[in-house]
Amino acid sequence: MTSTQSILIAAMTVLLLSIVILRDRLERSISRVYNTRQKSGVRDYILEEMRDAVLVLDDENKIVDHNQAALNLFSSGSMELAGRKFDELGFEWVKDLTFRSDEITSSKEVKLGEGENERVYEVQTMNFEKGSPLTFLKTLIIKDMTVHRRARTYWETQLRRYSEYLKGVIAERTKQLKEAERLAAIGELAAMVGHDIRNPLTAISGACYYLRKRSSLGADDRSREMLEFIEGNVEYSNKIVSDLLEYSRDLKLNKTPVVIKELLEDSLSSIEIPRNVQIINEVDEEEVEIDGHHMKRVFINMLKNAFDAMPEGGTLTLTSGRSPQGIKVSFADTGVGIPDEIMEEIWKPLFTTKAKGMGFGLAICRRIVKGHGGELYVVSQLGKGTIFTVSLPFFPMSPSEQVLDGSMLSGSLTIIEKADDLNLDLF
Ligand SMILES: Nc1ncnc2c1ncn2[C@@H]1O[C@H](COP(=O)(O)OP(=O)(O)OP(=O)(O)O)[C@@H](O)[C@H]1O
Ligand SMILES: [Mg+2]
Repeated sequence: MTSTQSILIAAMTVLLLSIVILRDRLERSISRVYNTRQKSGVRDYILEEMRDAVLVLDDENKIVDHNQAALNLFSSGSMELAGRKFDELGFEWVKDLTFRSDEITSSKEVKLGEGENERVYEVQTMNFEKGSPLTFLKTLIIKDMTVHRRARTYWETQLRRYSEYLKGVIAERTKQLKEAERLAAIGELAAMVGHDIRNPLTAISGACYYLRKRSSLGADDRSREMLEFIEGNVEYSNKIVSDLLEYSRDLKLNKTPVVIKELLEDSLSSIEIPRNVQIINEVDEEEVEIDGHHMKRVFINMLKNAFDAMPEGGTLTLTSGRSPQGIKVSFADTGVGIPDEIMEEIWKPLFTTKAKGMGFGLAICRRIVKGHGGELYVVSQLGKGTIFTVSLPFFPMSPSEQVLDGSMLSGSLTIIEKADDLNLDLF
């Protein structure tokens, strides 16, 4: 091989190597440009598709760039935005925006329209410097916050309402607690006083018995009358003591199968029925598991209350009915009725409108009925009459279930209804 050939081969090798290196560099720079273009293409795409309006302003507030959302917001048609002065877009609220060169970013809330048409925008501004010589540029991002604000207002209203409701519940529960404490104190006192009064009452009864025996041997009418008066009052005092003790004692029920109709007849026969009151007894021969002794107290109080409500006479209709849950017994009188203002009061112990009443009757009745897992409720119409209904379940809830049910809470869930027309057919 000649030296010329050797030089030629070396030159070609160098040339080939240079080509390979150049190609590699070219490929790399093509790929860099391609990537950059792709990236900026993605950015442009995101910017264009954004729901927020984006505008770039120069230091004279002239729009140098913007996205489609900005065009939609500021220009109803194909009006060009680029090159226009931002402050001259014709929107009042735009004038409220101030750009401070010392603030890198700031945000502001702007409201547009009124009432139903009001829209809320959050405007964020960002300042930056760019290029050579340095140009001061501002970017505005305008976010439509209307839906967010409406949702926030909605939830704020809901929360406010709920907190008002909770405040009401707390106030009601506090009232009930205070009432329960008051009753517990009355109960304790009643138990002590009641117990102590029983003894002198028994002694007076004994003395009356002795005097009666003596009087049969020759006392005058006036003395006999006075003796009867003392005995009557001893009996009444005994009832007061029994009521007090009944109310303050724990309720212990001894349940046995009882025919409701028979218990009612037994109750009727143990009290004096006024001559001017007619009784219609339509109660069925239903049998339930109840404490007959306690339920008789309930029935007697219902009957006596009805008689008291009909001083001029009237009719007392007793009915019963059956539902899948249990049975109901109603006492419907044609008496004076109960005024609306005292509808809630009548259940409270010591509330009475009677000269010789203690006001323990309904409180005790409700306690006994609820103790059976039942309910006691009333409908009344002033001047026409009142219906008290005792409902007793076939399958009473356990005490713990009753507490969960909330119906045992003092004074809380007694159903009190107001009937426009008294309707005896309650079932
Ligand atoms: N059938 C009714 N018609 C009209 N008002 C009634 C009737 N039943 C009860 N009330 C009213 O409810 C009040 C409370 O009754 P409750 O039985 O608790 O006590 P009372 O009858 O006044 O006294 P107590 O029963 O202790 O002797 C009565 O004073 C009366 O005003
Ligand atoms: Mg009574």
